[in-house]
Amino acid sequence: MPKPSARGRIDPFYVMEVMKAANDRQLAGGDVLHMEVGQPSTAAPRKAREAVAAALGRDTLGYTEALGIPELRAGIAGHYRTYYGIDVPAERIVVTTGSSGAFLLAFLAAFDVGARVALAEPGYPAYRNILRAVGAEIVPLPARAECGFHAHAGLLDQAGPIDGLLVASPANPTGTMLDAAALASLAAACESRDAWLIVDEIYHGITYGRRAETILSLTDRAIVINSFSKYFSMTGWRLGWMVVPPELMRSIECLAQNLFISPPAISQLAGLGALGAYEELDANVARYARNRSLLLEELPRAGLDQLAPADGAFYLYADVSRYTNDAPAFCRRMLAEIGVAATPGIDFDPAEGHRFVRFSFAGATEDMAEAAQRLRGWLR
Ligand SMILES: Cc1ncc(COP(=O)(O)O)c(C=O)c1O
Repeated sequence: MPKPSARGRIDPFYVMEVMKAANDRQLAGGDVLHMEVGQPSTAAPRKAREAVAAALGRDTLGYTEALGIPELRAGIAGHYRTYYGIDVPAERIVVTTGSSGAFLLAFLAAFDVGARVALAEPGYPAYRNILRAVGAEIVPLPARAECGFHAHAGLLDQAGPIDGLLVASPANPTGTMLDAAALASLAAACESRDAWLIVDEIYHGITYGRRAETILSLTDRAIVINSFSKYFSMTGWRLGWMVVPPELMRSIECLAQNLFISPPAISQLAGLGALGAYEELDANVARYARNRSLLLEELPRAGLDQLAPADGAFYLYADVSRYTNDAPAFCRRMLAEIGVAATPGIDFDPAEGHRFVRFSFAGATEDMAEAAQRLRGWLR
């Protein structure tokens, strides 16, 4: 029997496993308050859905250009002008199959097998799992609460030589953000090491206070990853984009042609409709803000008072070491005993995640209130 490849032997995405356990419980007639999955509970913006309805009766919806339809690339350039007040040439924008597709393209274009890529732990698990699958070597940066769970120059100095650094702001699972000075310092650290800087800006638009800075305001040498999944409330449409330095464009175009042919045509038309739906989307963010305030008040009352500052995204990363050293077992019991589904920190941080749990507050406000009540009774 031939053997499966070593590069395919990556870790599972535990949140999907929690989601499955929660669905099984629901199928068996149990109730579940979903705080495990990081996705909006709202549909795509109205104009996105209207654009799709119109296209279904009119278009053939065949393959598009590998880099995306020109109107959408121009539309995303317009989003940078309107939202951030900066000029990003449409020629540097690549439309992708979710930001997940963008990561694969970026990693393949930027890194050879064996390249050393640094990333903060805790962090979004697919970063390290995709990097591992493409043969890169992960250089984990132990980013702790004291530094907002983010990479910084001090951690890089201890990391040895690197070929790339991947950061996210706002970050998953902590929601913490990097300000302009921190981003500039990381950009300088990468430049001095001749390393690629990749910045995941997927949670831009979902912030509670100051807006997130785009690295593109500071440098055009970084690779920026973004998506229609979160702020634009379109997870299942599988549509993302990246902004790429000119040196990588041709390589990414050839990779995209061969790996994906094109991003989904129907989703690209939906994305075009979604651009500019700021009012509707900001109403979603207002709900996340209410959920966040409610939980920031209620979780400490329930006994969870060690929370990362959720400056953006829709997560609260809670230190549960007072209760357990085994976050997966803690999450399984929480689901079985009070029907609250949340994600154990080991998904995000193999070293320290066993004492953390991530609660997503993207759902309905009533569910958040009910979950907080149940947790209060349970943890007591
Ligand atoms: C930080 C971060 N980046 C990327 C993704 C992937 O998003 P998508 O492929 O839906 O664009 C997620 C999804 O949860 C995420 O949290």
